[in-house]
Amino acid sequence: MTAPEATTTQTTPATTTMTVNGTPLTTVGPHTSTLDALRDHGLTGSKEGCAEGECGACAVMVARPDTGSDEGSGAASGTRWVPVNACLVPAAALDGQEIVTAEGLAGTATAPQTTRNATDLHPVQEEMARAGGSQCGYCTPGFICSMAAEYYRPEPEQPFDLHSLSGNLCRCTGYRPIRDAALALGTPTDDDRLAARRQDPAPAAAHTDITAVTPAGDRARYRRPATLDEALDILRDEPDATVVAGATDHGVLVNIRGDRPGNVLAVDRLPELRGIHRTADHIDIGAAQTLSEIERALGREIPLLGQLLPQFASRLIRNSATLGGNLGTGSPIGDTPPALLALEASLLLVSADGEREVALADYFTGYRQSVRRADELIAAVRVPVPVQPVTAFHKIAKRRFDDISSVAVGYAVTLTDGVVEKARIGLGGVAATPLRAYATEQLLEGSAWDSATVARAAATLRAEGTPMSDHRASSAYRTAVLGTSVERFFTETQEAQGTKEGVRS
Ligand code: FES
Ligand code: FES
Repeated sequence: MTAPEATTTQTTPATTTMTVNGTPLTTVGPHTSTLDALRDHGLTGSKEGCAEGECGACAVMVARPDTGSDEGSGAASGTRWVPVNACLVPAAALDGQEIVTAEGLAGTATAPQTTRNATDLHPVQEEMARAGGSQCGYCTPGFICSMAAEYYRPEPEQPFDLHSLSGNLCRCTGYRPIRDAALALGTPTDDDRLAARRQDPAPAAAHTDITAVTPAGDRARYRRPATLDEALDILRDEPDATVVAGATDHGVLVNIRGDRPGNVLAVDRLPELRGIHRTADHIDIGAAQTLSEIERALGREIPLLGQLLPQFASRLIRNSATLGGNLGTGSPIGDTPPALLALEASLLLVSADGEREVALADYFTGYRQSVRRADELIAAVRVPVPVQPVTAFHKIAKRRFDDISSVAVGYAVTLTDGVVEKARIGLGGVAATPLRAYATEQLLEGSAWDSATVARAAATLRAEGTPMSDHRASSAYRTAVLGTSVERFFTETQEAQGTKEGVRS
């Protein structure tokens, strides 16, 4: 169990209600995690393994609006079952929402029954049992929920995506039987109630405002305003409010560091921060779009995002994390800034006073610091189009998936007749802020795209950062991989063109 909710012993009216497996569940306090709320009410299938979004033992399914293949329209045509990390999402954030846990899956794939028994297993549970996908069982309810959400994907013509399980770790069974179970799944039957539920709209975001008071008199407030104007008025009057979107960072700070911010402002469902809007010369990506939504909508249209996003944490995290949140934290090792710097993106910042556009290259001013004022929100990320045709995202981390970068490099290049016409390179993990590699870009532009240029570019790129040593990587390692990254990029472009020219290291 995570650190106890400091506000549960005595409160002013401070409850939120979500529907769990068809039954209302009322929770108390702004900082109670969804996982703790479930387990406090006897739903102990969901487990706590890490409390920081890395193991997936806590996964549950949430009914979210499904905007189909065009996430930009903002028009939800139905419901998509989305798995999330219940350890990170505050229960208050799910006020008015529908949740399904592993306990709630049994019996849903058949017509409603008045009595249930062990033979009512959901198809996902049946396949996991048949394949021997569970030994100690600690991870199993989380796997079941991630697998079930993919089973109910609105694109049944697409094969089961094993990456949907990338946020679920199993320490004893091993992954082959789990994979076998996933690949043995068919498609939902006509009488499957959770499949039928997808035809109806998902619950709208609740307008939530709760305040809890501890016996010591400490107050904690959680607000989900209905409109952007309301949110901006709050920020104008209370610039110390803690802005939270997907809570994938906030939840870790609450669980692991014991943070209990007294004034939380939830912005993840504000309609004005949602959607993807295209013009002739740019694409605006709503700051509250989740990374999974962006991946589905823009993975092909902006290939660099299609290369980046599958490497960002895990599907469970991407289902909650937002682009605005990743930029708003100002982390020097966030994965989106290197790609967005290479794409020459800018940010639309809004406040009660109006809107301004800031180039991402000018946004970061220091470690976790930016030009964004406390009364401003990131409304959207603007990507100029057309994007450059040759792109790559290199993430150097200890694990290929579900990990934090040691170094990340985004490339966006235009090659014309073997010459670098334009080059933009974004770096993460090699300084106190994400960086544009201006010196390397300058060296490349106008040069032949060959081994000699690449060797000089590698030396220049190695000198662009001021990396530090920490538990993820040493300064020397980070410097070295910058050089190998540009060499790898060259090799990738050569392979793409079907030529064999090697790269000297
Ligand atoms: Fe590990 Fe939630 S408990 S991801
Ligand atoms: Fe034991 Fe997965 S079954 S951790």
